[in-house]
Amino acid sequence: MNVNGQPYCTIWIKEENPETVRIIDQRRLPFDFIVEDIDSVDSMAVAIKDMHVRGAGLIGASAGYGMYLAALEASRASNFQLHLQESAEKLLDTRPTAVNLAWAVERQLAAISKESSSEAKIQTAFETATKIADEDADFCRRIGEHGFGLIKGISEKKRGDVVNILTHCNAGWLAFVDYGSATAPIYAAFNAGIDVHVYVDETRPRNQGARLTAWELGQHGVSHTVIADNVGGHLMQHGMVDLVITGTDRTTYTGDVANKIGTYLKALSAKDNDIPFYVALPSSTFDWNTRDGVSEIPIEQRGGDEVKYIDGFIDGEERTALLTPLESNAANYAFDVTPARLITGLVTERGICEPNEESILAMFPERGSSPA
Ligand code: MRU
Repeated sequence: MNVNGQPYCTIWIKEENPETVRIIDQRRLPFDFIVEDIDSVDSMAVAIKDMHVRGAGLIGASAGYGMYLAALEASRASNFQLHLQESAEKLLDTRPTAVNLAWAVERQLAAISKESSSEAKIQTAFETATKIADEDADFCRRIGEHGFGLIKGISEKKRGDVVNILTHCNAGWLAFVDYGSATAPIYAAFNAGIDVHVYVDETRPRNQGARLTAWELGQHGVSHTVIADNVGGHLMQHGMVDLVITGTDRTTYTGDVANKIGTYLKALSAKDNDIPFYVALPSSTFDWNTRDGVSEIPIEQRGGDEVKYIDGFIDGEERTALLTPLESNAANYAFDVTPARLITGLVTERGICEPNEESILAMFPERGSSPA
């Protein structure tokens, strides 16, 4: 996507030095656009944990490149395999909910283990990281093509009137390598000249909606309105939302969806108001081993200070302000699970399926008839 008219992905190899990975430090957006150099697996682990990079697809791509950096380091360590394994564990420890992380690390370990020399292992790690990133962008582009029809259909029904879409958190290009999942159909519709408007949930406590989704939609020229997290139900009750599209950090093969905290409430509200609620995801976000999302998906809990304090910029300076009594306790559950029964459909790179085991496995038959 474009930033100030210049095309960017969210992660890439530094042109002058192929042993350095470059990322956009998302903690500074929308006020500063800062590109950060990452040249060790430790710095990649910090970048994921502290959310310089975030979002399911980008966490996966970052983990893929992290394993490439680990392979480079391993070739200088006394025990290649031990360094690789320790690095994999370090990356796996960073964030528990987004399944793309484990998927990318395991894909790298399997690919690297097929080679015998250090040189071949490094080359394979590089090629696998690149493949993971390229695939992520390509899958999101295809999600856009499949989801486009949903928006087009609503636009036709409304005889060209504006299509109002509500989204939560940031499942945009910043959460992937390019295009985004929830935003890909929106960008496709906008590019095709369909009149779209997006309600952007602010997404407390880290405000990915207010800071990131609003910024990237604005960069692309898409009309949008930021709303406080509790507004969606009211808008839906009053016919102001035609469609809800969110992303997901992990979706079971039965169709339960883990996504940013607050998604479940939006799905309940959409159900009560008969509004279609779609979840967009590349297949790397399916968890083929988990049947029941509510009881089995690990929900990340982050520090309470993210709830008690708010970050913002004043006169170009980043400032942090306390919102609560200093001594209050705060709980910070980062994700919730929306049961499949509240979801209208899943938009994947292969097409749209229903959120149930039969339909998901019909779309991904290579996963077998009963994965777990
Ligand atoms: O905590 P984050 O910012 O990594 O959370 C991820 C999200 O932005 C959303 O939950 C998103 O819808 C899923 S990631 C595509």
